[in-house]
Amino acid sequence: MSDALTMEIDDSSRLEVYEDVRARIESLLEGEGDWISAMATVVCELHHSFDYYDWTGFYRVVEPGMLAIGPYQGTHGCLRIPFSRGVCGAAARSGQTQLVDDVHARDDHIACSSSTRSEIVVPVHTPGGELLAVLDVDSDAPAAFTMADQRALEELAAWLGARDWGGGPP
Ligand code: SME
Repeated sequence: MSDALTMEIDDSSRLEVYEDVRARIESLLEGEGDWISAMATVVCELHHSFDYYDWTGFYRVVEPGMLAIGPYQGTHGCLRIPFSRGVCGAAARSGQTQLVDDVHARDDHIACSSSTRSEIVVPVHTPGGELLAVLDVDSDAPAAFTMADQRALEELAAWLGARDWGGGPP
């Protein structure tokens, strides 16, 4: 696994690390059909590759309008988030990535950890457009995430959403 990187890295260096992470994930998940195992592997590989990732996890769509926590790394997260609440809810509702430089400036941010300063939430859709989950990454640093993080995480989410998880996630 790559060493964790400091936040000062520029976008092209970030993208290089994401390429390595992606290659490891694809190799680890080759032939794997279990959705929970896949999410856990993705979270682990991402979380330990960037030192500005302080909380990394998935929220799964478990019923219409409701997210429930999935595999994550970091301190405890909220267990359930309705689509009507939080930055995760906004990503689920809109189907669009939420890139938040300053969580204190977002009225709808749910503060599970008082140390969080910025975050990115990326929806995971099937190719048919069904929302499976959102990938939430929180940082204790302000404006930690850039367009490079957004691009790489969106590509990863698209890859994950397009995989055959043996009939789909439970
Ligand atoms: N950042 C989220 C919630 C944080 S967690 O539960 C780790 C939100 O506002 O949706």
